Amino acid sequence: MTGTHETDIPEDGADFVVVANRLPVDLVREKDGTERWKASPGGLVTALESILKANDGAWVGWPGIADAEPEPFDSDGITLRSVPLSAEDVELYYEGFSNGTLWPLFHDVVVPPEYHREWWNAYREINQRFAEATAAAAARDATVWVQDYQLLLVPKLLREMRPDLTIGFFLHIPFPPVELFIQLPWRSEIVEGMLGADLVGFHLPGGADNFRYLSTRLRGYPSNRIRSARGRASEIRLPDRKVRVGAFPISIDSSALDAQARTRETLARAASLRTELASPRILMLGVDRLDYTKGIDVRLRALEELFEEGRLEPSEVTLLQLATPSRERVEQYQIMRSRIEQAVGRINGRFGEIGHPVVTYIHRPVPKDELTAFYVAADVMLVTPVRDGMNLVAKEYVAACTDGEGALVLSEFAGAAAELRQSYLCNPHDLDGVKDAIMAAVEEPQEDRRKRMRSLRRQVLGNDVHAWARRFFETLDATSEH
Ligand code: ADP
Ligand code: G6P
Repeated sequence: MTGTHETDIPEDGADFVVVANRLPVDLVREKDGTERWKASPGGLVTALESILKANDGAWVGWPGIADAEPEPFDSDGITLRSVPLSAEDVELYYEGFSNGTLWPLFHDVVVPPEYHREWWNAYREINQRFAEATAAAAARDATVWVQDYQLLLVPKLLREMRPDLTIGFFLHIPFPPVELFIQLPWRSEIVEGMLGADLVGFHLPGGADNFRYLSTRLRGYPSNRIRSARGRASEIRLPDRKVRVGAFPISIDSSALDAQARTRETLARAASLRTELASPRILMLGVDRLDYTKGIDVRLRALEELFEEGRLEPSEVTLLQLATPSRERVEQYQIMRSRIEQAVGRINGRFGEIGHPVVTYIHRPVPKDELTAFYVAADVMLVTPVRDGMNLVAKEYVAACTDGEGALVLSEFAGAAAELRQSYLCNPHDLDGVKDAIMAAVEEPQEDRRKRMRSLRRQVLGNDVHAWARRFFETLDATSEH
């Protein structure tokens, strides 16, 4: 690759650029050929949208469907710049390497990752395309924030093109232990790609430690911990520069959600929702993308056994499970979907009554204000992933429990468990343990439950997404000054 010439730096570039696989909105093509935009799925967009709304900048990403290349446009003060992907790119780079190789590998191999050279070649090529689009969007000396596992090679590619840029990278999913990561045939290129950033951020210290260890083991780069006013961090010493590595647990716009949960409209909708669900004594809620990492099957099995054993009375309980469709052409997602839908049918067949299914299952996204009303209405929130980088749904539920009522059952394998210690924690691999956690959430005396929720709310309201971004950028500034 040749270096970039001065002329390649755009005159009208932005000083702050986010680059992520997806734009915050997805293009939808209707049957009659008309096009419209809708909100994109997932926690990355939820978190970053509120940051960018508070700052000017550009967002570089894929518009969500194949073969579309809309012109750059402004949305809420953000300039959105599309990176087009063909149908083949989507299959090989997005469904293939990103979601058939990296996603399962980084989530502790909960399903087997597949390694295919043609997926890897496409991943490399598309990362190059994202790096070029970002270089064309960034002003001289701009700050670029690269997001997530779909773009692990972008930091290095971008630095080669534009050495004037300050580059931060954040991984929104877990970073696996070295023993798993080294399965990857292209492990060294991936690590070098990430090390193109000035700062590499993870949710948890464990992920940061795994990455630091790997850089030494695979590439021989020495590293050391550094003392920092902002907590634990480390530094990896490359031959020509230093890269800082740290943990930055992501969060949500807690006060905005808290305020929305208190509005008269939300409270009224929450009440009517309970009535529509035949006023159950206990309303349980699950809110996920339909992903095999989320443990939707785990909570269904736990409930079924609790009914079987007579520990819960089906006529008193409703589980509302919202499952946003996700990555529907990837085989493991199809397998999980049919397993979940069979379980819902079986449980309703065994324990439901006419007019009262025990599980109400909705396989589509719901609008944000409606979702807030669901959180407000729920007595028990079930978050049981077998692996999850953070899980923003857990934090959203806590922020919406403004009256201090509500119980959160949370898997120890979600990143959020490191902060939400007062939830009803469970090991999703231990079904009896999950059942006990659900029963504790239902049966514990009200005062104890309220005490837990008070502590959770202190955590979530005191550590919001703005504080997260601030910590990341303070560290990035300190790194680039350094
Ligand atoms: P992930 O990023 O893996 O999807 P998170 O829990 O971190 O998981 O973030 C999911 C985000 O998507 C949250 O902001 C949540 O509110 C939103 N979400 C999840 N399911 C739905 C749904 N059925 N309808 C609307 N929004 C949803
Ligand atoms: C997770 C990932 C994001 C991704 C989102 C939705 O949050 O960390 O990078 O955008 O899921 O998944 P999708 O494949 O639909 O973009």
